[in-house]
Amino acid sequence: MGGNVAGRGARRRTNLALIGFMGTGKSTVGRLVAKRLGMDFLETDALVEREAGKTIPRIFSEDGEAAFRAFEERACRLAARREGTVISCGGGVVLNPVNLEALRTSSILVLLEATPREILERTLGEGKEKRPLLDVDDPLRAVEDLLEYRRPFYEAATPHRVDTTGLDPHACVEQVIAAFKRALSETGAPC
Ligand code: S3P
Repeated sequence: MGGNVAGRGARRRTNLALIGFMGTGKSTVGRLVAKRLGMDFLETDALVEREAGKTIPRIFSEDGEAAFRAFEERACRLAARREGTVISCGGGVVLNPVNLEALRTSSILVLLEATPREILERTLGEGKEKRPLLDVDDPLRAVEDLLEYRRPFYEAATPHRVDTTGLDPHACVEQVIAAFKRALSETGAPC
């Protein structure tokens, strides 16, 4: 992973931060977008795991969700210091306004969405033990409940959205790039 770290002073937003629920395609699509646009790619979850020296499921089970959220806040601050980077944000990043404030200093935020069923199919395909919040008896219910609670946070975070339901990753890439370019051209637009 290449590394552009911004210096001090006024910031131009050159990063694309992908936010959204688990399984909406942030990492798969983000990697492809980065490749297409010649940008770097970074996941806040990977920064958390590197900093903690253990996997996310282990952080949740050994230290608890609050400890994970503290690592995540630091990861957002570190990610926001980059330039020209596609940042795939963990699904819960929107719950902490400090995370969004940090990301907004350097990034256009684009929200990826999908229906609960599609989210479930995608996340189960990757193994539910990778996502502690969905490692429960009724994961569809967990997705629906979490989404209902979080929807206002996602919707308030950015007006730039892509519904990925029924789209393959390459179709998502086109829509995300279009949303990113539109947002970049709207100077002064809230992102
Ligand atoms: C979480 C989403 C996960 C990961 C952690 C918590 C959440 O990331 O950060 O398991 O609270 O929604 P992805 O959205 O990349 O799966």
